[in-house]
Amino acid sequence: MAAAIPVTALDDGEMTVCRVDGRELLICYVQGRHYALDSRCSHAGQPLITGRLEGHQLYCPLHRASFDIRTGQALAAPAAEPLATYPVTLEAGKVHVEIS
Ligand code: FES
Repeated sequence: MAAAIPVTALDDGEMTVCRVDGRELLICYVQGRHYALDSRCSHAGQPLITGRLEGHQLYCPLHRASFDIRTGQALAAPAAEPLATYPVTLEAGKVHVEIS
């Protein structure tokens, strides 16, 4: 379990990239919850931080695949593989992410 960002770092609908245990993660904040997932698209590796977040749906900026940030599930082609997601807890004012 490692601290990623302060709890107050993101407003609703925002996301950021951070490095946790040597891995680059995307942290999203939507409707009062934080989500941690792989920062690059499972289709061709595009950084998703430049994509668009609409509710719980994240759109890749390169070929417009989309993912559910709650599960990592690929919702639209051309991505077929999900994004890995990681458990998040809030502790001492920080967002902590567990990478197993
Ligand atoms: S790299 Fe994301 S849809 Fe192609």
